[in-house]
Amino acid sequence: MKPTDHRYFWCVILALAIWQPVFPQAAQRARQPAVQAPASASLKKALEGKFYLGAALNSHQISGRDTAAWAVLKEHFNGITAENVMKAGRIQPREGAFHFELADRFVALGVKEGMHIHGHTLIWHSQAPRWFFTDSEGKRVSREVLIQRMKDHIFTVVGRYRGKVHSWDVVNEALLDDGSFRKSPFYEIIGEDYIQLAFEFARQADPDAALYYNDYSMANPAKRAGVVSLVKRLQQAGAPIDGIGMQGHIGLSYPSLDEFEKSIVAFAGLGLVVMITELDLTVLPTPRHGGGAEISANFNYRGELDPYVNELPETVALAAARRYQDFFRLFLKHHERITRVTLWGINDGHSWRNHWPVRGRTDYPLLFDRNNNPKAAVELILSLTD
Ligand code: G3I
Repeated sequence: MKPTDHRYFWCVILALAIWQPVFPQAAQRARQPAVQAPASASLKKALEGKFYLGAALNSHQISGRDTAAWAVLKEHFNGITAENVMKAGRIQPREGAFHFELADRFVALGVKEGMHIHGHTLIWHSQAPRWFFTDSEGKRVSREVLIQRMKDHIFTVVGRYRGKVHSWDVVNEALLDDGSFRKSPFYEIIGEDYIQLAFEFARQADPDAALYYNDYSMANPAKRAGVVSLVKRLQQAGAPIDGIGMQGHIGLSYPSLDEFEKSIVAFAGLGLVVMITELDLTVLPTPRHGGGAEISANFNYRGELDPYVNELPETVALAAARRYQDFFRLFLKHHERITRVTLWGINDGHSWRNHWPVRGRTDYPLLFDRNNNPKAAVELILSLTD
């Protein structure tokens, strides 16, 4: 019987029908090409005792639709961050109307799996709903009203997950890359002390959760100086800040490892813990946007900005893997200062990098490929822990 013969087709169907119920696990594997790595090659196990290895989860993963990614998560990671579902615009799109469904599920999954659960983010100018800053006539609210709204938001969200969410990005991206204050509505309406107030509200809402300031471009010397000076002022004023999150949206040639290290040391020198909170590595040409993660950056699609639509050349894949290894070598060197390293996604197909700062590109920024198989970087990171 030849493969072209229709009898062959029906024999295969029959064989599959008999085989599936007898070997349900094998059938499951065949449908889900997932991790092939043996248990001994688990990243989280290799890094145990050094720092948590986290991953950001998107809505598909949280709602349980992406089971293949979950297999990777459970094998290799022991921490989770909500990529989007805890942001103010998602969780309180209208005043007092809280949408907790996905956030509840995210927290319940982390509790069930015994993972470190990180909350992202309470006060961020981006994804903050417009109502936060305006009254019923569309006019800007007063300082008092915005402080009250901030307090209500933080108390409701942090209070709901008290004792379950271990740490929070209380304030995200309050500074520009030159170290000066971002002129966000929070800053313009309340003033500089909105940051201190946010930390105080978060501490009141959950005295046991660790509270962090989180930002990008943290290896940039001017930004580093701005963060150090901001945190010193917060500490002098008694604000309950426990740590600093360095996002880590890196590229093949930026930032410099030396500058990144200087920032780890400077931040830890403030008596705080340091986290790498949103690690990913673009391999694509970068239009001029400053190298950070300014969400408003947006460039038109051009073919030359998207050179690896079908596959990534071996040389570039290897360069990316080595770059990941260099960064993890640095993180391990400073493991007494760094408590968590979180990848901003599980596999390449999910990453925001495919859509920023140019929509619709094909990037390769994470540790697992689009089929959830470990990339060369995983092996190189593991080799650091032998
Ligand atoms: O879910 C909707 C979908 O229903 C809709 O069809 C689609 C149309 O555009 O949008 C989808 O929502 C998008 C969401 O990501 C989920 O994919 C939003 O438009 C998009 O703005 C959102 O982008 C997120 C971005 O923050 C803004 O919130 C990225 O996923 C997320 O990775 C990114 O994460 C930020 C950190 O929070 C802070 N640091 C920088 C980092 C990267 O920008």
